[in-house]
Amino acid sequence: MNKQSSIESLQQEGQSFQPPQEGRGQAYIKSMEEYERAYARAAEDPEGFWADRAKELITWDAPWDKVLQYDYNKPEINWFKGGKLNVAANCLDRHLTDGRRNKAAIIWQGEPEDEVKVYTYQMLHTEVCRFANVLKSMGVKKGDRVAVYMPMIPELAVALLACARIGATHSVVFAGFSAHSLQNRIQDCQAKVLVTADAVIRAGRTIPLKPNADEALKGCPSVEQVAVVRRAGNDVTMVEGRDHWWHELMAGESISDKCAYEVMDSEDPLFILYTSGSTGKPKGVVHTQGGYLTYAAHSTQWVFDVKDDDVYWCTADIGWITGHSYILYGPLALGATSFMFEGVPSYPGPDRFWKLVQKFKVNIFYTAPTVIRALMREGEEWPAKYDLSSLRVLGSVGEPINPEAWLWYHKHIGGGRLPVLDTWWQTETGGIMISALPYATPLKPGSATRGLPGVHAAIVDSEGKDVGPNQGGHLVIKKPWPGMLRGVFGDPERFKKNYFERFKGMYESGDGARTDDDGYFWIMGRLDDVLNVSGHRLGTAEIESALVSHPAVAEAAVVGMPHAVKGETIYAYVSLRTGIDPSDELRKELKGHVRKEIGPIAAPEFIQFADGLPKTRSGKIMRRVLRKIAAGSTSMEDFGDTSTLADPTVISDLIEGKLALV
Ligand code: WT7
Repeated sequence: MNKQSSIESLQQEGQSFQPPQEGRGQAYIKSMEEYERAYARAAEDPEGFWADRAKELITWDAPWDKVLQYDYNKPEINWFKGGKLNVAANCLDRHLTDGRRNKAAIIWQGEPEDEVKVYTYQMLHTEVCRFANVLKSMGVKKGDRVAVYMPMIPELAVALLACARIGATHSVVFAGFSAHSLQNRIQDCQAKVLVTADAVIRAGRTIPLKPNADEALKGCPSVEQVAVVRRAGNDVTMVEGRDHWWHELMAGESISDKCAYEVMDSEDPLFILYTSGSTGKPKGVVHTQGGYLTYAAHSTQWVFDVKDDDVYWCTADIGWITGHSYILYGPLALGATSFMFEGVPSYPGPDRFWKLVQKFKVNIFYTAPTVIRALMREGEEWPAKYDLSSLRVLGSVGEPINPEAWLWYHKHIGGGRLPVLDTWWQTETGGIMISALPYATPLKPGSATRGLPGVHAAIVDSEGKDVGPNQGGHLVIKKPWPGMLRGVFGDPERFKKNYFERFKGMYESGDGARTDDDGYFWIMGRLDDVLNVSGHRLGTAEIESALVSHPAVAEAAVVGMPHAVKGETIYAYVSLRTGIDPSDELRKELKGHVRKEIGPIAAPEFIQFADGLPKTRSGKIMRRVLRKIAAGSTSMEDFGDTSTLADPTVISDLIEGKLALV
């Protein structure tokens, strides 16, 4: 049997992998029965269930008035309202007295192999208090926004926890985004301070970061002060009175390492994180304190089964929600050891991850399907060189993991015995929603399995009615959960419209999915104009508006094209202005233009110049047709109903153009 057909038959037979016996006795959730019990309890008494978890996992300075109060029509959601806490105190202070003071909170591996730093809880506490005092000295107060644009270095974690300590709202912008993207995000949230670094070290190269920050700040009068970490030692220009070196700020004699934490309400904002939607402008997803932290800690504990002496490694960047919840807040709230890596999986060789697993005896490993697919291509001899026997739980997130990648991960990293958890969630959900539990759930490669206890995931049709098994539909969440977003910063209308308007009384995820006969969820991908490239979320409208901002471009339509490693890659159809001729040079220039406007991750892989785009008579671009052409369809039958097209002949022109390009 060839590989493909063996995978198909495996899916057809519904073959599943039973959870491991070894380790079961010590697991948080030991069996499917235990999962079902927790699920049923959370369904019958959600408030009781979440109140118990919030008390077990979080230290409160004052009890809440009400567990949950919500109204999706407004929409308004409050968890543990009136409850007082501080997130940084939960992640640090309480571990100074619970026996973990000298335990590693963060083990940081720099890209150069010999650069390793370990921060115990005590050390991290000291650094965070100092930087909290630095922020205060810069005039940052409770409720102010602090923008963070940094590589994966320990100072990033320190900066976020320092914000949390003084009640400032952090907004991290992934360091791969351009100056322009940074500027938009800072302008939107009106940050008072920016924390950045001289450069990012990536795959052996020093990529200057500070010039991007400088460029962005030209349009950001709200930013009064900038703290700059010296990471790479490259030359940077410092603006007198505005820019300060992190190490100088932290060495200041007047800076104390004592800093009383701000007592926050459960519903005060903790952070804003921008993510792409179906319109051009990214939305600032707002998460708050008590519910978010409860959910991050709860899901880290149950899904990854993190134990006190584990080394837990989530390979994401803190610039994304995965890093917020599963490098920083979830693990540190639990008092776990979080491993943080500056580098990439492929440098200096495709064995870097496995080398680090062996070096630090990593127990729990959480990565993305695109990483697995890329490493799979390099061959199984790379992981085979290392002792991976410390590993206990494997996770995946960001996009659907195809059965082939799942099976490779299971066999070559998990030795054929470890559970591979496909975790479905979103920036908006704050934490994992649909996932197996490692010692309870039988696994089916390619399925995220079941909703966690307290997560009422369902599939509905376009009217919002439940659909039965094996039928595709909209993935919704029927009841509130503590980690859910509380707003879109500065845009209540968008908050309502995006998530709560279409289906009354439910949260709309924007994803399509189906369930099978066992009630397992199979995620099919976005239903809106949002792309998923290597697990990164990008709006087609954002990329289109970047293209159209170039003087040569009259019109652009962007779609996703299936890609073996990235899941999807960006394919752009571009109509040029009259008098401008298509050329390879222009193609290159346009790619560069998008890089500059949004960031390298948004640059189209393919640009097809087209005289006309398939539009309906009412002028709407028929993306469905463009997606099909990019995916390689050449026969008219593939395109479905095209009778509403103003000019159906554009299709054959576009197909020809596609064939000439790829
Ligand atoms: C979108 C959310 C949540 C962390 C990373 C991405 C897709 C995410 C899975 C999965 C299938 C997945 C969805 C979702 N997605 N995880 N396990 N299986 N699809 O966060 O940038 O907010 O993107 O990523 O389409 O809506 P994000």
